[in-house]
Amino acid sequence: MLTDARILVTGPTGQVALPLTLALAADNDVIGIARFRDVAARSRLESAGVRCIETNLAAGEFGGVPDDVDYVLNLAVVKSNRWDIDLAANAEATGLLMARCRNAKAWLQCSSTGVYQPAGLDPRAETDSLGDNHRPIMETYSISKIAAETVARLGARQWNLPVTIARLNVPYGDNGGWPAFHLAMIEAGEAVPVHPDRPNRFNPIHESDIIRMVPRLLDVASVPATTVNWGGSQSVDLEEWCALVGELTGNEVTFVETEQTIGSVVIDTTKMHELVGATEIDWRDGMRRMVEAQRQR
Ligand SMILES: NC(=O)c1ccc[n+]([C@@H]2O[C@H](COP(=O)([O-])OP(=O)(O)OC[C@H]3O[C@@H](n4cnc5c(N)ncnc54)[C@H](OP(=O)(O)O)[C@@H]3O)[C@@H](O)[C@H]2O)c1
Repeated sequence: MLTDARILVTGPTGQVALPLTLALAADNDVIGIARFRDVAARSRLESAGVRCIETNLAAGEFGGVPDDVDYVLNLAVVKSNRWDIDLAANAEATGLLMARCRNAKAWLQCSSTGVYQPAGLDPRAETDSLGDNHRPIMETYSISKIAAETVARLGARQWNLPVTIARLNVPYGDNGGWPAFHLAMIEAGEAVPVHPDRPNRFNPIHESDIIRMVPRLLDVASVPATTVNWGGSQSVDLEEWCALVGELTGNEVTFVETEQTIGSVVIDTTKMHELVGATEIDWRDGMRRMVEAQRQR
C-alpha cells in the first residue's frame, strides 16, 4: 500500500473511487475533487480525513486544487452524453489538471476497455483496434475516453510526468457496479439485457483487487505513458454471474436479447500480469460478497 503520500483523487465519490479513496485515506494525505452531489459519500470521505474540494471538471478551473501532490488518480468520469461537456471534462480537463500537477511522481489515468472496437470473444490486447464500443448505451463515452487517453499520453511527454493508462473492464464489489444493477433487476423480476452475440463475456474485477493493484500501477507509470488492461484474471460470462446471483438470492433469472447493450469485451491479461500481477478474488467469492453487501444496505 501507499503510505505518507499526498494523493489527489478526482471523482472520489464514484463507484470505483470511493472504496479506494477511503482505503488510501488511512495512511495518506488525500485530497478529493468533484462536485460532491452525493452528500453521504462526501461525508464518509470527510470522516475518513479526505479534504474535499468542490470542482467542476467541465469548467476546467483548478486554481483551488493543490499543485504539490505526489500522485494523481484520475478516476472521475463525466457522462452527460453532450459532446461539448464530455470532451471538455474528460479530455481537456485531464490536460489542464496535468499541467497543474506536472511535478507529481506519477499519474494514473483510469480508462475503460470500452475504448476497444468490439471483437466478440477474442481477447483484446493493448495494441488492438480502438472503436466506438459503448455507443449503443452512451454516444459520447468511448470517444471521450479515447480522447482522454490521448491527452494523458501527450501530458506524459509534455511535462515528463510518468503516466499509466489503465483500461478497466467491469469493476464491481460492495460499492456496486454493473453486476449490482443485474442483482437489482433479478430481485425485481426483470429480464437482464444481453447482446444477441452470446455468451456476453467480460473480465469482472473486484474492488479489493482494484485497491491492491493501484500502488503497482503507479510504480509502472512511465514516459511515454504505459497503457495496460485492468480487469479480473478470470473471464466470466454475464450469463454465469447472473445465474449465480439468481441462485444466491433464490430468484429466477431471465434474459432479453437486445442490440442496445454492451456486448462482450474480453481482455488479454498478458501485459497486466507482467506489470502488476494477477487478481486474487475469485469471481464467485466476489459476487457472493457483493450480494451480501447489497443486502445490508
Ligand atoms: N463503473 C464501470 O463499470 C466502469 C467500467 C470501466 C471503466 N470505468 C472507469 O472507471 C472510472 C470510475 O468510474 P465510476 O463508474 O466509478 O464513476 P462514477 O460512479 O460515475 O463517478 C464519477 C465521479 O466523477 C465525478 N464527476 C462527475 N462529473 C463531474 C464534474 N463535472 N466535475 C467533477 N467531478 C465530476 C462524480 O462526482 P460529482 O457528480 O459529485 O461531481 C463522481 O465522483 C472512470 O474513469 C470510468 O470511465 C468504469
